[in-house]
Amino acid sequence: MKRFIVINGPNLNRLGKREPSVYGHETLGDLEALLTKTAIDLEVEVSCMQSNHEGELIDCIHRSVDEADGIIINPGAFTHYSYAIRDAIASVDLPVIEVHISNVHRREAFRHHSVVSPVTKGQIVGLGLYGYVLALTALAKGEE
Ligand code: DQA
Repeated sequence: MKRFIVINGPNLNRLGKREPSVYGHETLGDLEALLTKTAIDLEVEVSCMQSNHEGELIDCIHRSVDEADGIIINPGAFTHYSYAIRDAIASVDLPVIEVHISNVHRREAFRHHSVVSPVTKGQIVGLGLYGYVLALTALAKGEE
């Protein structure tokens, strides 16, 4: 059975409480339950992690080489400036899909640029938690 890792970066543990007009009312627990259900439907395994620490996110990306067939990552604000996370993604030979809950292109200018996108398979933005469901579906059905 294919296995996928969902990595959420800084401040995403605050989902549901954090700027609900931007990120919605659902919590990280709700997201993980949604992905667990989606994985059952798709007949794949999913495991989820969240960290507010850049190094822990990098360690998780590295470990995924041995533990997963693909990665879904929302790097939070690290998206816009972490060359270390970009390099970690580039270092693993796995399909990686970048997800953003909000439509970053409708927001502040600093959110318009992602330093990680060039090393990902694809990017989904602005579709709320459903973006993660689409990413998991794409990885489960994909050839890689
Ligand atoms: C985010 C968008 C980022 O700009 C922001 O820093 C986040 C969340 C999103 O999911 O929309 O923390 O990645």
